[in-house]
Amino acid sequence: MTQSTIIINFKTYAESTGENAVKLAKICDDVAKETGADIRVAVQAVDVFRIAKEVSIPVYGQHCDDITAGAHTGFILPEALKEAGAKGSLVNHSEHKIPHDKVEAVVKRLKELGLATCICAVDDDEASKVDVFNPDFVAVEPPELIGGNISVSTARPELIKHSVDSVKNSKLLVGAGVKNANDVRIGLQLGAHGVLLASGITKAKDPRAVLLDLVSGTK
Ligand code: G3P
Repeated sequence: MTQSTIIINFKTYAESTGENAVKLAKICDDVAKETGADIRVAVQAVDVFRIAKEVSIPVYGQHCDDITAGAHTGFILPEALKEAGAKGSLVNHSEHKIPHDKVEAVVKRLKELGLATCICAVDDDEASKVDVFNPDFVAVEPPELIGGNISVSTARPELIKHSVDSVKNSKLLVGAGVKNANDVRIGLQLGAHGVLLASGITKAKDPRAVLLDLVSGTK
């Protein structure tokens, strides 16, 4: 059986920015070491460098641009993400969508640099369209459930099933509202490889306890 993957998206929550992001990433790192789970963190580009120095789990950026070195003020250069210590990047998150031709181009650039890619999709239809770019992961997250308390596993199990059929080249992650072991268990039982989540960890009073619970859902 292949090992499931849990990616924690730190977004731009105060609880997961700057020094708080380092603390949270260290908790994720500790839990990964203790349990052997495959836990990765997707952090703000400005936090990649300091976090990558402190943890051994893979650190991803949350976005990357299809640019080459030169005059592109404010954009994120794939090479810079790599040099900062990132091992991969999310692309096309529903809070940072880009046209599919750009998704294809940036995934190609990231792959050339040996960086992992996780393309987000809002549904199974978009998932099948981005799966052809051969990323490592496709993460399906219904936008209306993002940041809420009802998980994709509870509210949209059929979306997970359809996404399993749509994603042929990549590992399928599911997300939105994922908070506990049961959410993870259902997603995996329906055929997903893992989960992508944010607020369940970033806003938790005890992120370590929640993370341990999520990991128990993968066993
Ligand atoms: O990228 C993860 C995400 O959009 C889901 O957010 O807060 O519902 O776990 P959340």
